[in-house]
Amino acid sequence: MTHFLDIHKTDLAELRAIIDQARQMKDARNGHPRGTPDSEQPLAGRMVALIFEKPSTRTRVSFDVGVRQMGGQTMVLSGADMQLGHGETIADTARVLSRYVDMIMIRTFDESVLLEMAEYSDVPVINGLTDRTHPCQIMADILTYEEHRGPITGKKVVWSGDGNNVCASFLHAAGQFGFDLTFTGPMQLDPEPEFIGLARKVGSTITIERDPAKAVEGADLIVTDTWVSMHDSQSTKERRHNMLRPYQVNDRLMAQAKPDALFMHCLPAHRGEEVTSEVMDGPSSVIFDEAENRLHAQKAIMRWTLGV
Ligand code: CP
Ligand code: NVA
Repeated sequence: MTHFLDIHKTDLAELRAIIDQARQMKDARNGHPRGTPDSEQPLAGRMVALIFEKPSTRTRVSFDVGVRQMGGQTMVLSGADMQLGHGETIADTARVLSRYVDMIMIRTFDESVLLEMAEYSDVPVINGLTDRTHPCQIMADILTYEEHRGPITGKKVVWSGDGNNVCASFLHAAGQFGFDLTFTGPMQLDPEPEFIGLARKVGSTITIERDPAKAVEGADLIVTDTWVSMHDSQSTKERRHNMLRPYQVNDRLMAQAKPDALFMHCLPAHRGEEVTSEVMDGPSSVIFDEAENRLHAQKAIMRWTLGV
């Protein structure tokens, strides 16, 4: 069974094939009016369950639209409405869903739910974000970077802010695609040492630099994300904001990077907190291309898991 659980769990050749297919499918749709189904219908007759234990705009809509463009159908399920929230084991849920649907995409609070689902499912399982990682987002981000600037291999990516789940998938991608990543943020919010170690083990240079101005010197890409993630307790909000304020991405910080450096944010963003509107709406920003590319990247990921 082929699942898409994390970037470091998929071979580079396969990741590259997914990115190439995403680009081809995106190109093939160019010029067609909205609402046109893809010329190929590889998901015809297939049903995909999209399970959300927490909110989502991009992941929900891009998966739903992507499946339909490829001829399949979707069922969007809220974790709270399923027996999942009422004591049935994840393993039993996975066995049952496998009798009905052809693929499962799940967004969950706890990574162990995703892993148990994958272990007991007879159909592909895709990670739509957990507390620890967000691989579909970073596949879209690689596609976006390369559309604008060519190969990401050998480039310098700077993550400014919280070393969270999205940052973790960037670290996995650094290891696989061969770019360097500098993390700048407060020590209390460093990325997980395990993920830093994985990227270093395969030869990527992972640097921790507390001074954001120094960190972005020579950067090709600057990335940030919300200061309070969905899995973080709201009671930590004030403390996090106080620690993270120096790491806001603003015009002053962007000016220290390479002149052609890009800015990315997975969205949703909090304008005036982790990033200013000047940067979000400025010439370096590719945030809406990233959002669009969720659709194309995930279509290619779904085809890859099903082998169609
Ligand atoms: N970037 C992202 O995953 O957005 P949603 O939470 O809206 O799905
Ligand atoms: N780090 C954020 C990403 C949202 C897409 C969160 O987990 O809430």
